[in-house]
Amino acid sequence: MKILLAGGAGYIGSHTAVELIRAGHDVVIADNYDNSCPEVINRIEKITGIRPVEYEVDVKNKSGVKKIFDENLIDVVIHFAGLKAVGESVQLPLKYYRNNIDTTLTLLEVMEESGCNNIVFSSSATVYGEDAPAPYREEFGRGKCSNPYGWTKNMMEQILEDAAKANPELSVVLLRYFNPIGADATGLIGEDPQGVPNNLMPYVSQVAVGRREKLTIFGDDYPTDDGTCRRDYLHVTDLAIGHVKAVEYADREKGTNIFNLGTGNPYSVLEIVNAFQEANDIKIKYEFGPRREGDLPEFWANADKAKEILGWEAKRGIVDMCRDTWNWQKNNPNGYR
Ligand code: NAD
Ligand code: UFG
Repeated sequence: MKILLAGGAGYIGSHTAVELIRAGHDVVIADNYDNSCPEVINRIEKITGIRPVEYEVDVKNKSGVKKIFDENLIDVVIHFAGLKAVGESVQLPLKYYRNNIDTTLTLLEVMEESGCNNIVFSSSATVYGEDAPAPYREEFGRGKCSNPYGWTKNMMEQILEDAAKANPELSVVLLRYFNPIGADATGLIGEDPQGVPNNLMPYVSQVAVGRREKLTIFGDDYPTDDGTCRRDYLHVTDLAIGHVKAVEYADREKGTNIFNLGTGNPYSVLEIVNAFQEANDIKIKYEFGPRREGDLPEFWANADKAKEILGWEAKRGIVDMCRDTWNWQKNNPNGYR
């Protein structure tokens, strides 16, 4: 199949491009490089031996997206093109609503005009909201989000569901990711946040490589065994393979289908730091700081549905996640730059 990856030069999109190519699909990447860079395309080619078709375009721009559909017979769209920094979304809510909602509307409109009926969407565990009990199950529905980023995911899921209700030919697969970490085993692609990392694993790996002095662990008084928050970390390659299964499923099913992509096994912040230290034989300097606003004590996935229906389950464990993160970071101390 020919698959359009909107936002495909980013962290999850680039790994998905590699796995789609490995599975024999044709990949077209559309990205404005707002949070990535063109070097990613060279790396994908280096890993797979195949260069994806590439468009530098803002996915909010309808004529730019239409051109892609005019020049390529797209079977499935995967929509990764979003802004994702939770803290920034609180400071700049309009930027987040404009970018995340508009990219979704533009893609859906152009798909309709071009007769493309399959879309896979990058959603997030954040849509379960603040009150859902872990493990999260798909049938819980969407809850109350604590920040504009989360609300954009919540609203985009609603928009996609409504579009599928109105068009019986449309297939919408909502993938609710838990916490992706790690990198392709080649160490050629990985997570390359701009500025100070918001997320745990890139912060840890930047401490390891000497770009940051020490990690601050946000809170040690949560109601968990060691007092730090617990999350469902999954290897980005497993997540990428989940997309391969999802595009194949989208091509044969109609309507809206929702899947959690997680391992079902939570780890605390301290467990992650210790696992990284042990897997890579490196000391990570850290201190405890106050809680970060909006963090939930713990959540993880019930991933049974993805296993039963998509035939997907996470295969890589915490040691692989820590080792592959470090392999990427030590070979690319300054990311792609
Ligand atoms: P990322 O920032 O690395 O990738 C997103 C890509 O989209 C970037 O390359 C960026 O340049 C591009 N982009 C953004 N707006 C665009 C626009 N208007 N036009 C064209 N390109 C645009 O992020 P990621 O971690 O790869 O996440 C991909 C998707 O998955 C996002 O929608 C994110 O919200 C979602 N998600 C990520 C996580 C996570 O922990 N990484 C968790 C849950 C959901
Ligand atoms: N943490 C630290 N120090 C840091 C960074 C993070 O202690 O410097 C802690 C956080 O407090 C949290 C844990 O590490 O307890 C994980 O934090 P991340 O920021 O890596 O991940 P989150 O679970 O907060 O958020 C992620 C994605 C969001 C998504 C959310 C729910 O970044 O996009 O999962 O799916 F919305």
